[in-house]
Amino acid sequence: MALINENYTKLPGGYLFSDIARKVSEFKVSHPDANVIRLGIGDVTKPLAPAVISALHKAVDEMSEASSFRGYGPEQGYDFLVNTIVENDYKARGLNIAADEIFVSDGSKSDTGNIGDILGLDNIVAITDPVYPVYVDTNAMAGRAGELLADGKWSKLIYVPCTSENDFIPSLSKEKVDIVYLCYPNNPTGTTLTKDQLKVWVDWAIENKVLILFDGAYEAYITESDVPHSIYEIDGAEQVAIEFRSFSKTAGFTGTRCAYTVVPKSVMGYTKSGEKVSLNKLWNRRHTTKFNGVPYIIQRAAEACYSEEGKAQVKAVVDYYLNNAKIIREGLAAQGLKVYGGVNSPYIWVKTPNGMTSWGFFDYLLNDLNIVGTPGVGFGPSGEGYLRLTAFGTLENTKEAVGRLKKIII
Ligand code: MLT
Repeated sequence: MALINENYTKLPGGYLFSDIARKVSEFKVSHPDANVIRLGIGDVTKPLAPAVISALHKAVDEMSEASSFRGYGPEQGYDFLVNTIVENDYKARGLNIAADEIFVSDGSKSDTGNIGDILGLDNIVAITDPVYPVYVDTNAMAGRAGELLADGKWSKLIYVPCTSENDFIPSLSKEKVDIVYLCYPNNPTGTTLTKDQLKVWVDWAIENKVLILFDGAYEAYITESDVPHSIYEIDGAEQVAIEFRSFSKTAGFTGTRCAYTVVPKSVMGYTKSGEKVSLNKLWNRRHTTKFNGVPYIIQRAAEACYSEEGKAQVKAVVDYYLNNAKIIREGLAAQGLKVYGGVNSPYIWVKTPNGMTSWGFFDYLLNDLNIVGTPGVGFGPSGEGYLRLTAFGTLENTKEAVGRLKKIII
């Protein structure tokens, strides 16, 4: 008799974005003629950059010749990609990250979920609220979250609210914490922390031996100079932080799949008896055992994002989405709606009008305006009363959606 992991039975019905996709499919069945504009899940619409496509073609051709064919590669990533990442994302910013601190993977969703494999079940985990649901759900699956309570909170997680009342700046937890997830630029609120604001967290983590899991998937969208591109720009962060970076939103790899995680050798975990253990070693052990590497052709595609032409092409696409974000932000603000984010981020966080709930506003937008957003409460209790829109649509659809949103009566 196979016993199940009963933590799974504690999870709510479905994963947020799967639930929304199902709702939208049902709506499409009952309203086949509706022109539904999807600004819900943060999935990109622009094709891969030409430099990436030509690297893919070249790599595919290499796979057709015995002399250049590749089988298993290094689980941590080929040197050509790892060294390119080190040079461009770290050395170019004056940051000292070594090649053996980079682990190439198939996505930050997997890595932010899987990192829990090397962390004890007794850790007290803090999350900012609202938050990317993967952090919460994967801790619930592992048994670190406790029970789901009626107020939508998990009994063992520490919630750090980020709402308009505190300008979306999380306050340090007063309770004992072992691990905290930070995502900046933030998903879902689209807001950021300045270097000084992030330093407060790093200093606190050093003082209290807290591990920071820093999700930087939206780094490419930073436009303001005081917003850090990497947590390692903050002194001491290399002692306490693991950083997750992704090509998904940077270069349109949501379907191509490539990301990387930085685990500095100086970041330590502890045994129950207080002995220090390098998390780099543990993650390397986990990665080499459970993962067989990102395909060669995909790693060549990721490498191409850093060529001179690749950089320019990738930036042009990011700028295209940032322009969409501006159109949404300014269009909704002109309507009298309160909007946040969208300056250093592809996400716009909208306060629901007239005291509507998140799901009430979601249903109204879907049924009356045929626009799909993501209800804020789906990201956590402090997301109630908000809705997230993404700038990853086409320019045409973005303009059409903003035109429809002008019908909202406040
Ligand atoms: C989102 O919409 O929050 C993201 O696309 C989800 C993800 O990156 O997995």
